[in-house]
Amino acid sequence: QQGDATAGATVFKKCAICHIAETDQNKVGPSLNGLFGRTAGTHPNFAYSPAMQQAGKGGLVWDEATLRDYLHDPRAKVKGTKMTFVGLKDDTEITNLIAYLKQYSKQ
Ligand code: HEM
Repeated sequence: QQGDATAGATVFKKCAICHIAETDQNKVGPSLNGLFGRTAGTHPNFAYSPAMQQAGKGGLVWDEATLRDYLHDPRAKVKGTKMTFVGLKDDTEITNLIAYLKQYSKQ
């Protein structure tokens, strides 16, 4: 299913209090610029939780499948994450959000 990046920009408002996608600046959360293909917990100059760093060392790489899984229930996918966000229930919202984020990723 093809996502709608414009609709995804609206969904991203739920994330934008903590994340930027357009640039590599960190906020409360790490920048989501260049997210696809990136190992979890590795964006420079961000103080990740030990849990997110461990997830990356354990092989978690952000792609459509892992991101979908994480966004459904962040604290179940990465136990101990300091991302205090309940997650997104609607699959179409996630598909559109992924299309939005891909605009800011090479992969
Ligand atoms: C981490 C996405 C909402 C705070 C992350 C990561 C992703 C992500 C992919 C891991 C990044 C990496 O490994 O470099 C999103 C999306 C959101 C969202 C798409 C909206 C749907 C939020 C909100 C907050 C937040 C609302 C703040 C209340 C954080 C923090 C981390 C993080 C603090 C680091 C987690 C850790 O080190 O355990 N987010 N996020 N996020 N996010 Fe979010």
